Amino acid sequence: MNKKIIIANWKMNPLSAKEAIKIAKGTDLKGVILCAPTIYLKVIKKVIKKAKLGSQNVSVENPLSGVGAFTGEVSAKMLYDIGSRYTIVGHSERRAMGETNQIINKKIKVLIDTAITPVLCIGEIERDENHEYLNIVKHQIEECLFGLNKNLLSKIIIAYEPVWAIGKNALREATPAEFLEMKIFTKKVLVNIFGDKVEMPAMLYGGSVDEKNTRWFAIDGGADGFLVGRASLDPKKFKEIVKICETLNK
Ligand code: PGA
Repeated sequence: MNKKIIIANWKMNPLSAKEAIKIAKGTDLKGVILCAPTIYLKVIKKVIKKAKLGSQNVSVENPLSGVGAFTGEVSAKMLYDIGSRYTIVGHSERRAMGETNQIINKKIKVLIDTAITPVLCIGEIERDENHEYLNIVKHQIEECLFGLNKNLLSKIIIAYEPVWAIGKNALREATPAEFLEMKIFTKKVLVNIFGDKVEMPAMLYGGSVDEKNTRWFAIDGGADGFLVGRASLDPKKFKEIVKICETLNK
């Protein structure tokens, strides 16, 4: 059985580098990827021994040198240089700020060019009775992966995060069955684009993941891992999630 991938999405937290170091030390576990705010990556890199480092964004610009006149941007090469090997793209919170499927597509290509693993988030804002949400997810997959060489598909990670199940204002929790449906659907869409011999990317679940629902999403939902928001800032909860995944790895 493949090992579960557990990605911490700290979002715009915490407030100080001191706190960031504390959380990083408390969640420095094998099989874990810590996606912290870019400004903390350097200090975190110094204190972690087992976890890997990831970022939450990257510049769409890809000058060969990794430097250029793009005020406020951080290039993939800069992230790589600092030790970051994963980047979340297409998170619903960034999509709400204007990140389109086309921008995400460019970012994925920039990251792959730089040997950084893109963690592509997909997911609908709401579930409608007519199943239009399936079309929305289908378009996200098609447009975000447009023009990608099929041999590169296994180099990305996909995280299904239904927007209605994310954060403290979530409408409700998703069910493992809903995740499984989406995993099967995603596979179908990928086969349609890339052909049936394609190597499937790992598919994670994200949205109110905690120590209570992890096991069920892995067992009944077939999740290859998790993208964890709030619970990733709480070392006690996060460790519990990792522990549950470890028992499932065996
Ligand atoms: P949550 O966030 O676990 O706090 O719901 C998940 C995410 O947005 O990645």
